[in-house]
Amino acid sequence: LHGTMSVKNKNLYIGGVKCENVAKKYETPLYIFDEKLIRKNCREYVNYFKVKENNNKVAYAGKAFLPRYMCQLIKEENLYLDVVSGGELYTAYKSQFPMEKILFHGNNKTIDEIEMGIKLGVGIFVVDNFYELDLIEEICERYNTIQDIYFRITPSIEAHTHEYIKTGQIDSKFGFALTNGDLYEALEKVKEYKNINLIGLHAHIGSQIFEVDPYMDAVDIMMNLIKKIKENYNIEIKEIDLGGGIGVYYTKHDTPKTIKEFCESIINRVEKTCEKLKINKPVLIIEPGRSIVANAGSTLYTIGSIKDIKDIRTYVSVDGGMTDNIRPSLYQAGYECAVINKIGLDKINQVTVAGKCCESGDILITDTDIMEIQSGDILITTSTGAYGYSMSSNYNKIPKPAVVFVKDGKSKLICKRQSYKDLISLEL
Ligand code: LLP
Repeated sequence: LHGTMSVKNKNLYIGGVKCENVAKKYETPLYIFDEKLIRKNCREYVNYFKVKENNNKVAYAGKAFLPRYMCQLIKEENLYLDVVSGGELYTAYKSQFPMEKILFHGNNKTIDEIEMGIKLGVGIFVVDNFYELDLIEEICERYNTIQDIYFRITPSIEAHTHEYIKTGQIDSKFGFALTNGDLYEALEKVKEYKNINLIGLHAHIGSQIFEVDPYMDAVDIMMNLIKKIKENYNIEIKEIDLGGGIGVYYTKHDTPKTIKEFCESIINRVEKTCEKLKINKPVLIIEPGRSIVANAGSTLYTIGSIKDIKDIRTYVSVDGGMTDNIRPSLYQAGYECAVINKIGLDKINQVTVAGKCCESGDILITDTDIMEIQSGDILITTSTGAYGYSMSSNYNKIPKPAVVFVKDGKSKLICKRQSYKDLISLEL
C-alpha cells in the first residue's frame, strides 16, 4: 500500500476514494493518481535536498508524466522542470510554468526547438553536443540575447540497471565524453562564443538505480572538473546537475532508498569533496521523475477473458495492456496487482495478466499470485505513475485511458479518455 492507499471491508481506497466508485464513474482502463503522495515526494526533495538553505534546485523530469495539471502542481511545489522536447516545453508554457525554471534537455534538439526555447526564455539549455552548441550561439546572436547553459558530460560510470535505460557509460549517444578531448574542445568554443554563458555541468547516469555509489562517483568526477576548468579555462562552474534515476519499488525484489537517504548522501559527499579539493560549494540540481510519480499512480482494468490452459498457465486478459504500459514488454519490468474489492483475501491462484493487443508479447505480469477472480472484476496494477501514460500509444487504435487525481475523498478528471473520433482526428 503506497501513500494514502487504505483498505476497508476488503475494498481499496486511494485518497479517501473507493476505487470501485472511481472505476464506475470514469470507466476502465483508468490511471488513478494519489495527489497527496506526489506532493509529499516533492516536499521531501525540497526539504532534504536543501533547496531553501543552500539554494539547491529540484527539477521534476517531465518525461515521467507531464499533463498540464502536473505542470501546475510542480509549479506550486516550487520545483524546476526538465523538458526534453518542443512538445513538453509547449505543455509547460501553456500551463503558465515559469520559463526561467526550465531546463531543456535532449541529444538532438531541432533547430525549431532551440529557437522556440530561446524565444520563450527557458532558463537553461543542457547542451549535449557541438551541433547544438553552435546553433544556440548562432540563434542567440540573431535574437541578440545571451543563453545560460550546462554541458552534459558522459562520466563513464556503469550503473546497474537495464541496458536500455543506462546512460552514463562511455558508449552513449548522450553528452560530451571526458576521455577523448571533446569536453575540452567545447570549453574552447565557449570561451570564444559571445552569446553563451556556461554556468554548470550535468550528468545523468541512468534510471531505476538503487545504489548511491554511482552518484558518489559522479559527484567526485564533477567536482574535480570544476577545479580543472577553473584552472585551465578560467571558467567558473557554479552549478552541478546530477540528473535523476533514483529507483523505486515496483515488486518485492526492489529495495529502494528513501528520498532522504539519497539526498543526504549526495549533499554530504559534495561537502566533503569540496573541502578536500578546496573549492566553493556549487549549487546542486537533481532531476527526479520516477521517484516523484511512480508509486503515486496505479492503473485500473476490467478483467475480461480468463483462459485456463490446463497444467500450463491461466491467462487473465484486461481491457488495456502494452498501449497504456509498455514497460513490461520493453524492459521486462515487473508489477504487482490485486482485485480492488478483494484486498486481503488469500492469493490462491497463479495467473498471467495479459493485455488486449494483437501481440503475444503484450503481457503485463507473468505468473503472479492472485485471489479468486472472475470476469468483470476490477484489477489494479500499482506503481504505474511514471512512464505509463507518457509512453502510452495508440497501437491497434486503442484509445488512451483517462487520468484521474484523487485527494481528500474527491476525484478530479485531469486528462479525458481518448474517443474513437480523437483517434482519426488528424487523418485526412
Ligand atoms: N534527467 C535526465 C537527463 C534523464 O534522462 C532522465 C530519464 C531523468 C532525469 C529522470 O530519470 P528518473 O528519475 O525518472 O529515473 N522510460 C524508462 C526510463 C527512461 C528514463 C530516461 N531518462 C522507464 O520506463 O523506465
